[in-house]
Amino acid sequence: MPIERKPEYFKGAQLKVGIIGCGYVGLPLGLRFAEAGHRVLGFDLDSSKVEKLNQGQSYIQHIPGAKVQQYVRSKHFSATDDFSRLADMDAIIICVPTPLDQRYEPDLSYIEQTAKSIQPHLQRGQLVVLESTTYPGTTEELVLPILEANGLRCPIAAGPNAEQVATDFFLAFSPEREDPGNKQFGLAQIPKVVGGVNPPSGRAAQSLYAQVVAKVVPVSSTRAAEMAKLLENIFRCVNIALVNELKLLGLRMGIDIWEVIDAAATKPFGFMAFYPGPGLGGHCIPVDPYYLSWKAREYDFATRFIELAGEINTSMPYHVCDAIAAALNDRQKPLKGSRVLVLGVAYKKDVDDLRESPTLKIMELLQDRGVKLDYNDPYFPHLHKMRHYDFSNMRSVDLTPANLSGYDCVVIATDHSTYDYPAIVESSPLIVDTRNATRRIVRHRNKIVLC
Ligand SMILES: NC(=O)c1ccc[n+]([C@@H]2O[C@H](COP(=O)([O-])OP(=O)(O)OC[C@H]3O[C@@H](n4cnc5c(N)ncnc54)[C@H](O)[C@@H]3O)[C@@H](O)[C@H]2O)c1
Repeated sequence: MPIERKPEYFKGAQLKVGIIGCGYVGLPLGLRFAEAGHRVLGFDLDSSKVEKLNQGQSYIQHIPGAKVQQYVRSKHFSATDDFSRLADMDAIIICVPTPLDQRYEPDLSYIEQTAKSIQPHLQRGQLVVLESTTYPGTTEELVLPILEANGLRCPIAAGPNAEQVATDFFLAFSPEREDPGNKQFGLAQIPKVVGGVNPPSGRAAQSLYAQVVAKVVPVSSTRAAEMAKLLENIFRCVNIALVNELKLLGLRMGIDIWEVIDAAATKPFGFMAFYPGPGLGGHCIPVDPYYLSWKAREYDFATRFIELAGEINTSMPYHVCDAIAAALNDRQKPLKGSRVLVLGVAYKKDVDDLRESPTLKIMELLQDRGVKLDYNDPYFPHLHKMRHYDFSNMRSVDLTPANLSGYDCVVIATDHSTYDYPAIVESSPLIVDTRNATRRIVRHRNKIVLC
């Protein structure tokens, strides 16, 4: 490894890029670097993932196995669980999980463990970038001290006077903006925000990412980059809570909130459409805002919008269960003992990801209330034990007319595009629709309850 390496080194040469954490974020990023001609080594603790990748297989539905195979064959991509090979990398990008613990507090153990696994192998001139979503200060307060414990230095510095600060290695933060399943904006089209611990680190990370994305947006610090990601996700979380609350009011007032949103969305400026649903799901939006609320407490600051949005979004699965009970009640049936089929366990349409899916909460609530429960999801033929839920004995039920007609109620929780909604409505005695997926259906409207 060269002793004196300029930030611009990361601009042109074929680089060895190590990606730590080959999940929803790390795998597509690694493949993008491979596509741009770099040599990528994916590091993961999960040896089954490492094995699959080296065999040219994908374990994420929207990433084709053929793509993995192509770069494994061309020797631009491989995977390992041998962390001593980090020493050989030019750049190391951290894409490990940042969940919440049982008390809704940030669980930084994955980042901490990763920093500790880099530290003994850290080399002079290497660039380390954290991509995991986290609170402002994580890169400087948690990652930097662990890395510097091996004797190399990366001083925190900002402003024009720090342009040429001497640094042994480079450290930056650049948030991931991946939107799984989004066909319009792929990784290469999404601008990347980058902030360094010092200006040379920022420039090094900008040089690296400029090779794989259309636009790099530099900011003055890692904290600004960390906060930018949280602002984006809090913006979504708060706006979804707003339409969820207005949906409840609309239901009470007899106003169709989806019609209202579509009308408002015709305004060519100053409005952005968000749509209500059965709650908030995915790995990011229900989780990330709490990283900021937690950090804000250190500054005696209450993030009230975040708390209120969380309260509203968390209450939505309860509302869905109450709506199912009311719809059955209207047909003189009790919730207890009724046969209910839930459609869509994924947290959003057309993805094979059920992390934090509100459907799981709805299913738990229905079971607790004595419902005879089944589900269908084309992306999940069977369910497994999860951190908070155990539906390990359940298998996806076929959507045949005979099966559908045997349920007291069919609930549309996630509106996958592959569902044949007219056929579902035709055969089911009662539909509770949390997504307005049946909006274009004219026949049998009396069977459909929007909630
Ligand atoms: N999934 C998304 O759409 C998305 C979007 C933007 C940001 N993010 C953020 O990106 C980060 C990663 O999320 P993800 O969805 O890719 O998670 P993921 O669970 O899909 O993948 C994480 C991977 O890291 C591996 N891992 C865990 N600890 C490790 C360690 N110490 N060393 C090596 N590998 C380790 C796991 O085995 C797993 O393969 C999170 O901070 C998340 O908030 C995710």
